[in-house]
Amino acid sequence: MGLPAVFENLSLPVVASPMFLVSGKELVMATCRSGIVGTFPALNQRTSEGFERWLEEISEGLDGATQTDGRPVAPYGVNLIVHKSNPRMQADLALCVKHKVPLIITSLGAVSELVEAVHSYGGLVFHDVTTTRHGEKAAEAGVDGLIAVCAGAGGHAGTLSPFALLPELRSFFDGTLLLSGCISSGNQIAAAQLLGADMAYMGSRFIATRESAATDENKQMVVAGQARDIIYTPAISGVPGNFLRPSLVKVGLDPDNLPAKESISFSKEVEPPESGAKAWKSIWSAGQGIGSVQDIPTTAEFCARLKAEYDSAVAGFCG
Ligand SMILES: Cc1cc2nc3c(=O)[nH]c(=O)nc-3n(C[C@H](O)[C@H](O)[C@H](O)COP(=O)(O)O)c2cc1C
Repeated sequence: MGLPAVFENLSLPVVASPMFLVSGKELVMATCRSGIVGTFPALNQRTSEGFERWLEEISEGLDGATQTDGRPVAPYGVNLIVHKSNPRMQADLALCVKHKVPLIITSLGAVSELVEAVHSYGGLVFHDVTTTRHGEKAAEAGVDGLIAVCAGAGGHAGTLSPFALLPELRSFFDGTLLLSGCISSGNQIAAAQLLGADMAYMGSRFIATRESAATDENKQMVVAGQARDIIYTPAISGVPGNFLRPSLVKVGLDPDNLPAKESISFSKEVEPPESGAKAWKSIWSAGQGIGSVQDIPTTAEFCARLKAEYDSAVAGFCG
């Protein structure tokens, strides 16, 4: 399977993945203008009204814009959390249908009604999975793409190696296959394709860009960090995820002795409540690939660098 037709003008086979409190409309528009798919979680706006405003602003901002080589900008996408703890799901989906959002990325639940609603206006649905079983269920629901969220990824990562998960997904799925986890350079995008992925799905690297909505301190922590600074724990959000150890220490928590969180919860409260720490807001997530992050460029500069690295890796390999 190649890329869907709507992705034919991408500068690179890359989706800049949705990141809670990090991917705002500035990052989305900057990535799309650089020719890679920009995405954001609907919940990055506090209300559905605010979310709709962003949809309008992004559409207007990208309307008629081009990449530096004159090709049309990349399409954008929205991440919807399909889980009972997200009361805005139906309202936000209705807004995506109304504004014909080109790509919907679903997390947690893959639902055929949602897929039908998005297909009704010609949109695409990609679903992120950490296991083959979840991939099978999403394929049954009719999704267009599967995102293999492998070990070391930022956010709620899986534990499987891409060498294990990608071929298993490919064995039954002939839609678009994306690889996620620790991809930070053009060489790694090429490597993802060699492994059988159609596209790379990159998160943490974009925290350290000028347009990301992360705080300067968060960006600096990503630049300073390495894989050893990442802890994989369910204690922050109730689901195992990767978090920056120094951000836990900063709010007074001991990363090696964290109180348990009882259930899946997307509230930001962290045990013990008296710590005042907030998941995602003051306890920051990032993946194990941050050792490759050395600077905080503009998104355009970074994407140009990615493209040069990618072209050189492909030429080197073919040569
Ligand atoms: C700070 C942060 C917030 C994230 N928030 C979300 C989110 O709201 N929804 C989602 O589907 N994935 C979220 N993710 C996961 C990313 O979309 C993506 O799967 C992951 O970052 C890819 O791995 P990488 O960070 O190693 O590139 C988040 C990741 C990070 C680092």
